Amino acid sequence: MVDRDKSGETAKDFSVDVPMETPGFFLKGSAHLNWGMKNRLSRIFNPKSGKTVMLAFDHGYIMGPTSGLERIDLSIPPLLPYTDCLMCARGTLRSCIQPEIDKPLVMRCSTGATILKDLSDEVIGVTVQDAIAMNASAVTTQAYIGGEHEKATLANLARLINEGNLYGVPTLGVTAVGRELVRDSRYLGLASRVVAELGVHFVKTYYCEPGFDEVVAGCPVPIVIAGGKKMPELDALTMAYKAIDQGALGVDMGRNIFLAEDPVAMIQAVRTVVHDGEKPEKAYDLYQTLKK
Ligand code: R5P
Repeated sequence: MVDRDKSGETAKDFSVDVPMETPGFFLKGSAHLNWGMKNRLSRIFNPKSGKTVMLAFDHGYIMGPTSGLERIDLSIPPLLPYTDCLMCARGTLRSCIQPEIDKPLVMRCSTGATILKDLSDEVIGVTVQDAIAMNASAVTTQAYIGGEHEKATLANLARLINEGNLYGVPTLGVTAVGRELVRDSRYLGLASRVVAELGVHFVKTYYCEPGFDEVVAGCPVPIVIAGGKKMPELDALTMAYKAIDQGALGVDMGRNIFLAEDPVAMIQAVRTVVHDGEKPEKAYDLYQTLKK
């Protein structure tokens, strides 16, 4: 499906060496947002580094008590001091995370699917008003571009954007990839751009090579990358480094942190890559030093 228009395509020029200017506000493509949106985004992205380390632990909303998240009350709190932003569902937030925490939250608002059935067949299950009631700094759902439920999942995203716009709440657009599709730069570039055109305020997509710099250049709002399946710690740090080096403004990482041999050491190593531009080998040295 994604290849449909390939035949008539002419060469593209993403000018990847020319960063998009960000006059008036530190975040790409966000200068014309209202004060509330900017304030919330400034909680998610560190205004000094312009980057974020988001901790994703929403996996249970489709997978149940998946490995590493069997006991969120035990596994997540030790990571919170090193996390810039939480991404989770409202049930686990309310039951497992202490409300005294001073961290921004991106609220997972979709439901309707589990790993037992079709993952892409989702609806919005959490209103923006309820997300606001839980002090969310942003709301999120995913779009399955090119998938059977492309239209419905884009409609879910549009609903969050429309409701969020009323209250100054940004929307994170996640580009989920159906099994039949390839995570290459052409697909991820298309998916990221489509959700940005719809009006999301930042995008979560996957790192790919080659061509991730073109995915970033073709997307007029900030991109953060998902971690994906667990891989060796040095590989995960290398992926994060390459993504940041090519213009990503952060990570929204789950399994490669909470399934690491030492999650607390791993998230600190990821931070040095994201906020300080540390090389992966050095970040891995730090991981080894901090590891218990
Ligand atoms: C998937 O269910 C969630 O949207 C996750 O938040 C996302 O995949 C990021 O987590 P991970 O780094 O484990 O891929």
